[in-house]
Order: sequence, then structure tokens, then C-alpha cells
Amino acid sequence: MAPGAPKVLLSDIVSHSNKVPSSYIRPASDRPDLCNVVDSSLQSIPVIDMIGLGGSNHRQIISELGSACKTDGFFMIINHGIPKEVVEGMLRVGRIFFHLPESERMKMYSDDPTKANRLSTSFNVRTEKVSNWRDFLRLHCYPLDKFIHEWPCNPSDFRQVVGEYSKHARELALRLLEAISESLGLDKQHMVKAMGKQAQHMAINYYPPCPQPELTYGLPGHKDPNAITILLQDCVSGLQVMRDGKWVAVAPVENALIINIGDQMQALSNDRYKSVLHRVITNNKSERISVPTFYSPSPDAVIEPAKGLLDGDHPPVYRSFTYQEYFDAFWNQGLKSASCLDLFKNESNQSS
Ligand code: OGA
Ligand code: NI
Repeated sequence: MAPGAPKVLLSDIVSHSNKVPSSYIRPASDRPDLCNVVDSSLQSIPVIDMIGLGGSNHRQIISELGSACKTDGFFMIINHGIPKEVVEGMLRVGRIFFHLPESERMKMYSDDPTKANRLSTSFNVRTEKVSNWRDFLRLHCYPLDKFIHEWPCNPSDFRQVVGEYSKHARELALRLLEAISESLGLDKQHMVKAMGKQAQHMAINYYPPCPQPELTYGLPGHKDPNAITILLQDCVSGLQVMRDGKWVAVAPVENALIINIGDQMQALSNDRYKSVLHRVITNNKSERISVPTFYSPSPDAVIEPAKGLLDGDHPPVYRSFTYQEYFDAFWNQGLKSASCLDLFKNESNQSS
């Protein structure tokens, strides 16, 4: 959608056309090149079984987690502790919401990125030149009491079911942050403390079937700006991750969640752990729903590397900044493959 164009949800365009509208078509040099993607059967992101994290398998899991954060930036977890019914409920109410009549969904619409809870489309309709094949409902989830009353109340159990999922997602994020701190040799509470009051946002992403998937993206290549992301997806493929210079498809695995390291964790770990490029492609057969939970520092948290990770050979890679400062830069830059973290590099590290 061109800047300033009227609001149109993608789900309503889809039913009227068997072609991608021109505002969604990427320039030829920036299309998904779907033939050049490594199939998930040939290469996969690591799968970590979380069972026994607090007990017999503790050391093994911490070590697997550390190497996944270092070399992959993306991994799946199974036996993660969020009950199956809670996960299924989350996907169910998300799907029902996106199938509601337009007039009902539009009650949540806003293209103002500063609004905490809103329905929108693409990424940032106010600034972007080419639109993305995605509608999304963005919700703030923590502290839950502060936001839940602004969430949709249709379907009638939306708030209860999504609230339940988001409480479990927060517990999981905290367990992961402890484990990640430990895997870096830091105090268990290090990352949680470094993030201040913390924030938890969720997107319910809705990718309708796309008549010409070779021309557009669900989401173009980007890195997540937050600290860690917990991604729940339905059984339709679409996510691809950059590995060794190639896009690798991530096939959905039942009962698994995908975890990825975001830019803040990369900065807090002084580049030991990696925020990795990923993107979403569309398909012409099935709609797809994904639910990322973005776990972030609070806006006023000062992001700087853990002292325990610095020495003569490992000076701070980035200057200190507040998460608010970072988020503003990320949002202004738009979704780009160039890392926003580069804007915060210390001068002595510019060439590396
Ligand atoms: C995101 C994202 C992946 C997906 O929303 O930042 O990368 O599979 N989503 O929808
Ligand atoms: Ni992402």
C-alpha cells in the first residue's frame, strides 16, 4: 500500500482477485526466488527436548541451548511445558478472529504503530513502498491486567484463551532467559535483570492464500528487534531461516515451538549469540497462522553487554543504548536485511 493509501485489509482483497495487486509486487531483484530454497528435509534447525531442564538433564540441555544460540540463532523446543490445549486454543481463537466479518474485525484497526493493541496489515502501512501479504493483530500482554480489557472480545473466549497462552508464554520466556544466562556462564537472573521491567508483545499473523507467491512476501527478510521470540505456528509451512548464506524452509513440527534470538540478546551477549535473518513466504493453497511472542526489555532498560563477557580480547561491540532508542531506529528503518544493530556499533568495531 502506498504511503497514505486508505486502509484495506488483505483478507478482503483476496476474495476479489486471482492476481496480486500491483502494490504487493516486489521489484524483480527482491523476490523470494522460491526454487533457490533448501528443503527442510535436507537441513533443519536444531530440536531441543526441554524435559528435565530443572533436573536430571539440566547440564545437557544448557549446553545444547548454548550451542543453538551461538551457531543457529533459531531452534525448536519440544516438551516446553505449555499444555497442548492452551496452544490449540490460541490458534483456534486466532483463526476465528480472522474469519470474522470485516466490520467486526475493523473495530480493532489502527495504522498508528504507537497504539498497543491493534489490527493492521503488512508491516508499517504509513511508510512502506511495497506491501506484505499479511494481516496482523498486535497485542501487549504484560502486565496482562493493564492490556487485556483492550483486546478483542469476539470470539467471546478470546481474552481468556489468549490471556492463558500469554501467561504460559511468559513463564517459558523466563525459563529460557535463565537457561540462556547460565549457558553464557552468567548468573541465572542476569538477562531478566538486564531487561528491567520487561515487556511482552504478541502478534497473531494471518497469511491468506496468495495467488502469486513468487511475487511477494508474507514478511521480507528481517531480524527481530526484541530479546527472544517464541513462535507458535499452525501446520502450514512458510517460515524460512538464513543458514550459511541460503534460505532454509522450516517445516512445522507438531507440539514444537520455535525460539529465536533477537537483536537485544545479541547485544547483551556481546555478539556471542546471534540474531538471524528470517522471512515468511506465501503459498496459493492454504491460509497460515503464526503467533510470535516477542519478549523485550522495558523501553527504559539500558542495553549493554554483561561485564562477565568482556575482557581485553572481547571489548564491547556496541555502545550502550536504551531499548526505546533501538526500537525507534528499527521502526524507522523498516524491515530490511541490513541489521539495525550496525547503527549502534562502537567505532573501533566498525570494520568487523
Ligand atoms: C515475525 C515473524 C514468522 C512467522 O512476526 O517477526 O518473523 O512465521 N514471523 O510468521
Ligand atoms: Ni520475525
